[in-house]
Amino acid sequence: MSVRSSSFVRVLTLVGVLATFLLPATSADASAPLRTHAASRGKFIGAALATSPLSNETSYRNIAATEFNQVTAENAMKWDSTEPSQGQFNFSGADAIVNFATQNNQQVHGHTLVWHNQTPSWVQGLSATAMRTAMQNHISQVVGRYASNATVVSWDVVNEVFDDSGNLRTSFWYNTLGQSYIADAFRAARAADPDARLCINDYNTEGINAKSTAIYNLVSSLRQQNVPVDCVGFQSHLAIQYGFPGDFQQNLQRFAALGVQVRITELDVRIQTPRDATKDATQATYYRNVVNACLAVTACAGVTIWGFTDKYSWVPDTFPGQGAALIYDESYAQKPSYTAVHDALAGGTTTDPTPPTTPGTPSASSITSSSAALTWTASTDSGGSGLAGYDVYREQGATDQLLGQSTTNSISLTGLSASTQYQVYVRARDGAGNVSANSALATFTTTAGGGGPGGCTAVGTVQNQWNNGYVVQPVTVTNTGTSAITGWTVTLTLPAGHTLSGSWNAVVTVSGQTVTARNASYNGNLAPNASTTFGFQVSRPNGNTQTASGYTCA
Ligand code: G3I
Repeated sequence: MSVRSSSFVRVLTLVGVLATFLLPATSADASAPLRTHAASRGKFIGAALATSPLSNETSYRNIAATEFNQVTAENAMKWDSTEPSQGQFNFSGADAIVNFATQNNQQVHGHTLVWHNQTPSWVQGLSATAMRTAMQNHISQVVGRYASNATVVSWDVVNEVFDDSGNLRTSFWYNTLGQSYIADAFRAARAADPDARLCINDYNTEGINAKSTAIYNLVSSLRQQNVPVDCVGFQSHLAIQYGFPGDFQQNLQRFAALGVQVRITELDVRIQTPRDATKDATQATYYRNVVNACLAVTACAGVTIWGFTDKYSWVPDTFPGQGAALIYDESYAQKPSYTAVHDALAGGTTTDPTPPTTPGTPSASSITSSSAALTWTASTDSGGSGLAGYDVYREQGATDQLLGQSTTNSISLTGLSASTQYQVYVRARDGAGNVSANSALATFTTTAGGGGPGGCTAVGTVQNQWNNGYVVQPVTVTNTGTSAITGWTVTLTLPAGHTLSGSWNAVVTVSGQTVTARNASYNGNLAPNASTTFGFQVSRPNGNTQTASGYTCA
């Protein structure tokens, strides 16, 4: 098999391989395992596997074999496992995974060749020349071992080479070799296996942000230089307390436009333990959203979950108090997240006939001439597909107006008319498309317009967040006055310990925790009711969940 001739051929080849080499599946029945539905959609559904339970536990083996058509070694192919001492290779764990996959008609995604973690200290202490040679030799030996094995089809060549601000990570690789180690690693992998698909992989890159944009620019530049980068992996270690990155699909699509394959490589969705029905339902929504984003993007090859049972997960060790991130519980029972993945892959063959409960009556606050904030008591969904989100409508008789949508039990409505009474209600949707009854109506009246030149409002939306940072985009600046304005100044407050790490479409200064954003040269002119937007990114302490607040506009 050759997947090198063009990205178009690569995609076709993979689809062909999935359709023929993996489980044959044309019309998957509703109760079929995940892999049957995935194959019928031309995608893979994968799991990271740990070697110990794979050899010791029948339940673990059975689920791994029957539900997934792609596997990744959670640790067994990393440098500290495969070359613990220089030139001394140990493939026992890696071979166990590859043999298991071969027996079960699964493909293997190799993880990972060049990373700053789980790399022995002997590598880190080498001189530049020796380190480059050691890297090339490691790639040659590890990739070369499986080059003629049809089961191993792809590799994470470099892993996590950027920090969250979008700068190249100052790892020992970068500090010793400079940026060129990345291109050299890809070239060595291509030389070792001309047919393998070669990926760059990272975390906190699911939404459009500084880090994902840095990877986008690097991949674009490397491909222009004919460096063989075939695919981009989005790890997708998500957490329900940080919100779902609403532009995930859009982000996958922009990478696809570069001509690379994209894939979800390490999906898990952690919660603050203990579990309850509401958290399970929200988690299920995240899983469903990720699978649907991949299904919607032709160049997305599939989704790999980082493990599958809460019995074995890296999360509790790394984030104390968090866990339960996977689709089976610790006793191998399927969770609502399993149903969500299953039903998304099955596409319309839903097993969830139950709509969510009715949301509480919305409560309006922060009412201006053009905006209002609504909150309501959350719905729950017991049908298994999980709560997907809420639609907020304005009651208008026969044709109610959709004012906005939210994945949480609150929303900031913008673009409202001044001095106008609004009667609004909320209804909930689940992952299977079932819709709840309408909530009771709430009534509020917007204030009078700005009344003169200079009246403006600013509303910030957190677009994407992760453990130690977040992106606010858009901040929507609206001229609420009766005259055109030629400039605006927005101020906002960062919580203690938060620092600005980037901004766009505004001239931004910081004093203490106060951020002042003035219009850029090209977006200061706003006619009455017109809006413009800017955005910014913030770093915050690990585990802190606060975000910027106190937006004012003048
Ligand atoms: O094998 C040793 C064992 O001999 C020893 O007794 C035990 C004591 O702590 O440690 C064992 O090694 C652990 C290893 O997992 C295997 O279980 C390491 O301590 C532990 O740090 C290591 O964690 C792995 C982590 O990568 C290391 O960075 C996780 O299992 C693995 O899920 C995680 O995976 C990474 C991806 O490779 C890259 N993306 C992020 C993802 C999550 O961190």
